[in-house]
Amino acid sequence: MQGELLRADQSRSPREDQRSSEERLRPERLRSDCPVLLSERLVMRAPHEEDIDALAHLANNAKVATMVSRMPHPYTADDAADFVRRTKNGDIGKCVYAITKAENGAFIGCCGVEPHADGRTVEIGYWLGEPYWNKGYTTEACHALVDMVFRTRQDVDQIDARCRVMNVASRRVIQKCGFQFQGSGLAASLALGSNVPVEWYRLDRKTWMSLRSWGNIA
Ligand SMILES: CC(C)(COP(=O)(O)OP(=O)(O)OC[C@H]1O[C@@H](n2cnc3c(N)ncnc32)[C@H](O)[C@@H]1OP(=O)(O)O)[C@@H](O)C(=O)NCCC(=O)NCCS
Repeated sequence: MQGELLRADQSRSPREDQRSSEERLRPERLRSDCPVLLSERLVMRAPHEEDIDALAHLANNAKVATMVSRMPHPYTADDAADFVRRTKNGDIGKCVYAITKAENGAFIGCCGVEPHADGRTVEIGYWLGEPYWNKGYTTEACHALVDMVFRTRQDVDQIDARCRVMNVASRRVIQKCGFQFQGSGLAASLALGSNVPVEWYRLDRKTWMSLRSWGNIA
């Protein structure tokens, strides 16, 4: 994904250094519009230190790293600790979620949204640990995230999503969330050290409202 978070981003962007001193001193404020999200099988909440071991284990997978923009590979416990620290500081997007299983609290992946500079668009991103793939978890997480964005942020007109052209599973998640194809292009991959072909999708508020319930999407 292109979005800052969704890139599971480990690198510092210039924007981070432009944050006001108030934002840096009061990182919790940054999450005030990112409420804990509950769905049928999931709890999505801010990442914290207890996630580090599972995060390091699940993220250290080339099948994950090569599908997101800026996840290092190999992925170490230090990378995981840094990721948690920086999400707490608001350095990696302002709305990064740990995806956890409601039944036992297990950390299974990450998702989030990152605002674009236009102030009207956010970009969604996600990854899940391989043992949890193909159980509908990411679709469930994205439905909750999309609902939260459109219900709580009247300033947001549209949500963008990007995936590698070869990423069949992610494209399917995007489709199951009602996103519409916009175009294709290239995006950087940290793990691969090169640009890769990506597809760009968008879900606008009007379309989201017209879907009424996620059950209407095949
Ligand atoms: C992409 C990813 C997040 C999907 O997570 P997930 O929880 O398995 O997704 P879901 O179970 O909600 O949906 C996956 C869909 O893709 C389909 N799918 C998966 N692999 C497929 C394949 N090889 N061919 C066709 N369909 C496939 C599944 O059948 C399912 O569709 P269905 O519900 O219609 O059957 C996960 O595979 C992942 O983390 N991959 C690595 C990181 C990544 O790609 N992140 C996204 C970057 S854009």
